Amino acid sequence: MRRGAAYNPYRPTNYRKRDPTTVTVLTLSTSSAAALRADAVVVGVAKGAKSPVVAAGAEAVDKAFGGKLAAVLETLGATGAEGEVTKLPSASGLKAPVVLAVGLGEVPAKGDGYDAETLRRAAGVASRALSGSKKGAFALPIGSAADAGAVAEGALLGAYAYDKGNGNGKNAKDKKNNGPLAEVALVGTKPRDKEYKAAAERATALVAEVNRARDLINTPSNVLTPAVFAAEAVAAAKEHGLKTEVLDEKALKKGGYGGILGVGQGSDAPPRLVRIAYTHPKAEKTLALIGKGITYDSGGISLKPAGHNETMKCDMSGAAAVFATVVAAAKLGLRVNLTGWLALAENMPSGSATRPGDVLSMYGGKTVEVLNTDAEGRLVLADAITRAGEEKPDAIVDVATLTGAMVLALGNRTFGIMSNDEAFRTTLHEIAEEAGEQSWPMPLPSDLRKSIDSPVADLANMGERMGGGLVAGIFLKEFVADGITWGHLDIAGPAFNESGPFGYTPKGGTGSAVRTLVRLAERAADGDLG
Ligand code: BES
Ligand code: MN
Ligand code: ZN
Repeated sequence: MRRGAAYNPYRPTNYRKRDPTTVTVLTLSTSSAAALRADAVVVGVAKGAKSPVVAAGAEAVDKAFGGKLAAVLETLGATGAEGEVTKLPSASGLKAPVVLAVGLGEVPAKGDGYDAETLRRAAGVASRALSGSKKGAFALPIGSAADAGAVAEGALLGAYAYDKGNGNGKNAKDKKNNGPLAEVALVGTKPRDKEYKAAAERATALVAEVNRARDLINTPSNVLTPAVFAAEAVAAAKEHGLKTEVLDEKALKKGGYGGILGVGQGSDAPPRLVRIAYTHPKAEKTLALIGKGITYDSGGISLKPAGHNETMKCDMSGAAAVFATVVAAAKLGLRVNLTGWLALAENMPSGSATRPGDVLSMYGGKTVEVLNTDAEGRLVLADAITRAGEEKPDAIVDVATLTGAMVLALGNRTFGIMSNDEAFRTTLHEIAEEAGEQSWPMPLPSDLRKSIDSPVADLANMGERMGGGLVAGIFLKEFVADGITWGHLDIAGPAFNESGPFGYTPKGGTGSAVRTLVRLAERAADGDLG
């Protein structure tokens, strides 16, 4: 049933502009940890051979404790284990009333500093422990601008709270949710140093965009429809000087986008394809990024059982990551062209929905037999991949919460990487590692290809159940134009955190893949794609 426009509750005009996200301020400070006014001073504590050791950066704090801070922490039960938080009242001589010691894990080998991810996670844990506070003075081991960037990133990523309430402008702040830590000050850093300034600016822009993705993912599906998502992209594009094109259901029909239309036709909230582009006049490379944007995945006529559908507002995490990455590239002024494609649809069962057995005529002319309407992500992505390929980018990378099989294979914190080019797959894996995101390369075995043969169409949207994540990748590969390097990130595991927060990762939408994609854009800007 399709309602007339007058009754349609899913129009963007029914969507009130949300409060701006609470932005945590980052400051670099030359002050010593003792002299800085803050609600708490954050120090690092590591696991020594026998007892905990206080990490570099906290010398002034340790001095205020008469050089006995490690012993005091040990008395309080601290071990220095990763993720551990110990709060204690300050000693005289410290401006902050509380010392917060955060565990760093093992002491690094002589001469080595703490690796970036250890710093990010510890800073994130500290930020979360300080939520609701005004200012944290971070006296963690920062030996370089890169370390400062890592601590800043972790602290800002940990200082996230989804405070959009019903997602409709109502603020859900209450006693339990006082909002994130309002200010992160990095002590003992160099605010006038070019490298430190650049690291701080990068962290601020990057995390703001990870948080944009998190907000979009956490917004309930009755609010964030495809049209509303598209409107958000257009608004952000205006603000940051990006170009957008939005194909609505009429334009999609005219263009022959049978995959996106087939998935979206069961919903009262019609589908959209958004092209959002950032260009740099001196760019040498052009990347196309494609995001799966299923604003709700009920499974369609192949309906998901209860227990498998409560978190499916997260099924647009790929599109959120792509959108956020394009805005981040603009904020950072990267010397690269980035074209984001957001394939937006809601997958619902109804009298107008695609049935199992239907054949869709995809963008570009291939036909697909829909054996399972719950394998919808690959259908919307296929149209977008074909369309993106027409512009002959140097590489295409798609990001999608694509398969439960990938979650079974790699768990909840690691995404799978597939590619038609082994070297590019390796590069993506390295880039994710640099960015601090867990990932693993996966194959596209050619023996699985025949399982998606169809007697009535060019392809079926489902095949062999075993290795289902790889079968999905093999399906997508069929839509990549000859000669184009393509990568596929299946983020179904890490996109949405259903358990408690950890490190700098909150409950709910995580913003998975944003940091990897931004790093990819930076590498492309440096002409260094490996
Ligand atoms: N959106 C789901 C995949 C998913 C599962 C994302 C768990 C996040 C967490 C996807 O559209 C889906 O339903 N895939 C099916 C494919 C199958 C029918 C071939 C799956 O994985 O079961
Ligand atoms: Mn599905
Ligand atoms: Zn899905």
